[in-house]
Amino acid sequence: MTDKILRLGVLASGGGTNLQSIIDRCHDKSLTAEIAVVISNNPGSGALERANKAGIATRCIDHRTFESREAFDTTVVATLQEAEVDLVVLAGFMRIISEPFIEAFPLRIINIHPALLPSFPGLHVQRKAIEYGARFSGCTVHFVDGGVDTGPIIIQAVVPILDDDCEASLSARILEQEHKIYPRAIQLFAEGRLKVEGRKVRILPPDEVATGALINPL
Ligand code: GRF
Repeated sequence: MTDKILRLGVLASGGGTNLQSIIDRCHDKSLTAEIAVVISNNPGSGALERANKAGIATRCIDHRTFESREAFDTTVVATLQEAEVDLVVLAGFMRIISEPFIEAFPLRIINIHPALLPSFPGLHVQRKAIEYGARFSGCTVHFVDGGVDTGPIIIQAVVPILDDDCEASLSARILEQEHKIYPRAIQLFAEGRLKVEGRKVRILPPDEVATGALINPL
């Protein structure tokens, strides 16, 4: 008997480049998972287009047609359950999810954030990192808990902030790393290697770790 393949439910509101990186890694089999459904709250999202092109089931659940966040979330949860999703992957999903949603998928919802958490949670974080004068930023994949961008951290990538960076150039540099670390985090989950102990996520057996320091400016 073969192991059951991990079924993903991807939630996305925007262009869907993170979704695309997950689709591509599933195709080249470096990610041993399948996307059961892609859900978007935005009828015009590039994510829905990309999923359709890849022959993946899609659902558009427009939040503007619901009376409350809870009612919207109830429909999203039911759709994910119907698709027998094992792991919920938030990939640029621009909605805060409610407690009942989180409880429906305990430690089975992950998110990607374009900053080095716990610095710069929330929105417009690339711009905030530049304005703050930080020398590094990056991206973080984390489990979702009840807070905004506060859950246990799975993996991070660091990029330098350059003197002439604007929001777009820094976002592009970070996005390139997002496309690497998100499929990798999902693969660790698929292999059953993520053990959450309080705030810490242990990777078992441990992977090689980055030990070198980065200094900017050199
Ligand atoms: C990414 O930067 C992600 O970190 C953030 O929203 C952006 C989504 O980009 N949460 P895309 O839709 O995957 O291209």
